Amino acid sequence: MCGIVGYIGDTVAAPVIFESLKRLEYRGYDSYGFATLHNNEFFVKKDKGKISDASFESFPEMLPGFMGVGHSRWATHGIPSEENSHPHLDCKGNFLVVHNGIIENYQELKSELKRNGHTFKSDTDTEIIPHLIEEFAELGFEEAVKEAVGRLKGRYAIVALSRNSDKMIGVRRGSPLIVGIKDSDKREYFLASDIPAFLDHTNNVMYLDDDEMVIIDKNKRSIKFHNLEGKEDVEKRLINIGWEAGQAEKNGFEHFMLKEIMEQKDTIMRALSQDEKSIESMAKEINNAFGTFFTGCGTAGNVCLAGEYIFSKVAGKHINFTVSSEFPNYHHFLTDRTLLIAVSQSGETADVLEAIESAKKKGVKIISLVNVMGSSLDRKSDYSFLINAGPEKAVASTKAATSQLALITLLAYACAGKLNEGKRLLIETASKVNDMLNPRYEKHIRRLAKKIHRKDNLYIIGRSLNYPMALESAIKIQEVSYIHAQGFAGGELKHGPLALIDKGTPCIALVAEDEVKNDVISNAMEIKSRGGYIIGVAPENNEVFDYWIRVPDVGDASPIVNIIPVQILAYHLAVLRGCNPDYPKNLAKSVTVK
Ligand code: F6R
Repeated sequence: MCGIVGYIGDTVAAPVIFESLKRLEYRGYDSYGFATLHNNEFFVKKDKGKISDASFESFPEMLPGFMGVGHSRWATHGIPSEENSHPHLDCKGNFLVVHNGIIENYQELKSELKRNGHTFKSDTDTEIIPHLIEEFAELGFEEAVKEAVGRLKGRYAIVALSRNSDKMIGVRRGSPLIVGIKDSDKREYFLASDIPAFLDHTNNVMYLDDDEMVIIDKNKRSIKFHNLEGKEDVEKRLINIGWEAGQAEKNGFEHFMLKEIMEQKDTIMRALSQDEKSIESMAKEINNAFGTFFTGCGTAGNVCLAGEYIFSKVAGKHINFTVSSEFPNYHHFLTDRTLLIAVSQSGETADVLEAIESAKKKGVKIISLVNVMGSSLDRKSDYSFLINAGPEKAVASTKAATSQLALITLLAYACAGKLNEGKRLLIETASKVNDMLNPRYEKHIRRLAKKIHRKDNLYIIGRSLNYPMALESAIKIQEVSYIHAQGFAGGELKHGPLALIDKGTPCIALVAEDEVKNDVISNAMEIKSRGGYIIGVAPENNEVFDYWIRVPDVGDASPIVNIIPVQILAYHLAVLRGCNPDYPKNLAKSVTVK
């Protein structure tokens, strides 16, 4: 959700920023902009559209200098246009800002600033920030930024430059902002919303906490962190995050989505490489808690719902799932003996962070399952498990989802006192996923995609552990192919959705070798009797299936293997319909606004 970058170093800044922004494009891709500072002059270039469609050949002439900022936008206030693209400047062109997040009180601040004589060029909430800095300019750049952000309400990360200073200032409140540090002859500094922006240069990072400001001085090549509440020089550790540049590249695949689907050969195993003592002690926490909740959004939410079924079946435990955006409305019975398990790939989803913040106020203990080390969720949790899936760049979550499923299944087995049995099952599942993900399998699914890619509607049914995967299948297909897809519990069909079935309507039945198998097959029969075209995702073929996609029989790990063919189908439907699966319209990765 908007990507911001900043750079200070010995290399001409604009090409570095350009490449970094391309790597952050998954966060927002309706417009872009960048600016450099050279000899007390700003050089700005911005436009509507995707940064990856832009090409610049004469950077040093067009945008000279060794420090600058960039922004890739996901519009919140104001249509995608050149005027609304960041960076934004104050009236005199002395201060410049890029921003990710939402300024909730921008309307009242804008009216106040207008009354004070400021003029605005855009419809964005962001533009008030450089004007606010201008209001306090006489205090000096650092103090002016501090005063300006003191007036803002909402969640945001900003990077600001002043025409008359060699400092770059970043501030974080609720939206991610990370410092990358490369120790070459002289230190090079990067500021970014996410690590892949600078992974080509360094994997050594320092994290800003909320209400902190970072000041990077180009001349001294120094960095300092201030707490906005007045405490100067906060100490920071340099952390090596262990990711390599290649992990955030396409590595020969046409799209990140397909690359990440195929990585599930390894990522499920990596999710299992957890410290056994931590798993056992978390299982004890869950067993001793008075009420445990799952929370997450979108795909992570569907994983949580699957977790609810898995814990019920494997450990005989009731864990309640509530989507994060609703969690704060559902707090009345939380106590300091409640446990909240938050699941998030990015660890930066605003709704998830709000959910845990509301729970923390009641003394609830937070455990998280998160992919991005050092993310807000990772740092705000009492304990967090890293799922170790590596950078996930496609907007559609695939490998993170199956890693989360694997870890939740492992925790459920640990709660049942059967950690080793769970581990064996999941290792066997990982090895079967490795066998599944071969070119023949993909071709078989692509053939199906060719048959159905012109359909307008698609339905998915499942029961028990695979009901949440029916919901997840629908998200995957909708978001990348724009086919209207809906998932149902098999038993709900007769209560309404059957009316949607016409001759040839494609319906996917997610089947496992479990106690609900025959019921799902009966539901598939009911659809077929009304003309539906039945796609069976199942360990065994059945006469009701018009098209069968085989999956291995892996018992309670069936959600993992059943969602993978649907991910592949969603990918090929998107490509056949001319959609770019990595950049679905209207969406962006890492939703840092409410
Ligand atoms: C769908 C998808 C989204 C995310 C959701 C939560 O494919 O990716 O629904 O799952 O925005 O994101 P995280 O997991 O980063 O909290």
